[in-house]
Amino acid sequence: MYDKKGTVTREGIRIHEPADFAGMLKAGQVAAQILDDIAPHVFPGQTTGEIDRLIEEMVHAHGAKSATIGYRGYQHASCISVNHVVCHGIPGDKLLKNGDILNIDVTVIVDGWFGDTSRMYVAGELGRKAERLIQVTHDALMLGIEAVKPGNTFGDIGYAIQSYVEAQRMSVVRDFCGHGLGRVFHAPPNVLHYGRPGREAVLEEGMFFTIEPMVNLGRPETKVLADEWTAVTRDKSLSAQFEHSVGVTAGGCEIFTLSPGGKFHSTWA
Ligand code: MF3
Ligand code: CO
Ligand code: CO
Repeated sequence: MYDKKGTVTREGIRIHEPADFAGMLKAGQVAAQILDDIAPHVFPGQTTGEIDRLIEEMVHAHGAKSATIGYRGYQHASCISVNHVVCHGIPGDKLLKNGDILNIDVTVIVDGWFGDTSRMYVAGELGRKAERLIQVTHDALMLGIEAVKPGNTFGDIGYAIQSYVEAQRMSVVRDFCGHGLGRVFHAPPNVLHYGRPGREAVLEEGMFFTIEPMVNLGRPETKVLADEWTAVTRDKSLSAQFEHSVGVTAGGCEIFTLSPGGKFHSTWA
C-alpha cells in the first residue's frame, strides 16, 4: 500500500528499502557504542546527571544528535531509571549507592536515522535478586527478537516475552511498549511485550522497530510521578529493561544496536 507521500506501508507500518538498513546500523551502532563507553562511569557516589552529561558529550563527539533533547519538552540526552523506576527516569543530582541497578536509554540521530537502545548497569555490587531480574529481562528481549521474521506476527513477539517472564514468576509491564522507528523516533506499530501467537500485524521485510521489555520482580502496574516523566512500579518492586532496534530481513532480523564490544551488562562483559 502506498500512502500520499508514495511510501510503502503495511497496516500503517513503513516498509523500508534494503539500502535503509545501512543508515539504521550506523545510528544504532553510535547509540550502542555510547552504552559501552558509559559503563566505567557508573559507580556508587556518581550522579545520574553526570552520567547524562557525559552521554551528551559522547553523542556530539560522534557527530550525532540527541533525539531526546527537546522531545516533548524532555531536556536530557538519556533516560536513567534507577531500581523501582520502570522507564523515563530523569537524570539529576541524586547519588547512586552500592547495589543500585539502573537502565540507561540513549537515542541518537545519525544522518536522519534513529538509533534507540538501552541496557542495565549496576553501581557497585549486584544483589542476587537484581541479577536474576536483569538476566531474565535480557533473555526475554532476545527471545522476542528470535520471533522476528517475515510471516510471524507482533503477537508472536509479545507472547515469546510474556510467556518466558511469567514462567520465571516475574511480570511484564503493560503501560509502555516498543515502537516503529526509522527516520522518525516513534512510529506505528505499538510493539507490545505481551500477547498471543498469531495476533497483531504480520511482520514483513523492511519493517524497523524497537523491542524494549520492562520486567518487574513484583506486580506489573506502574504510575507516572508529578514530573510527568518518571514511571515507577506501584508496588515499589525492582524493574529492569533492555532495548534493541531491529530491522526485519528475509531470513529473520538484523539487530542494529548490538554492543560493538560484545557487552550487555557492565559487570558481565
Ligand atoms: N528512548 C525512549 C524509548 O525507548 C524514549 C525516551 S523519550 C524521552 O522509546 F523523552 F523520555 F527521552
Ligand atoms: Co524505544
Ligand atoms: Co529507548
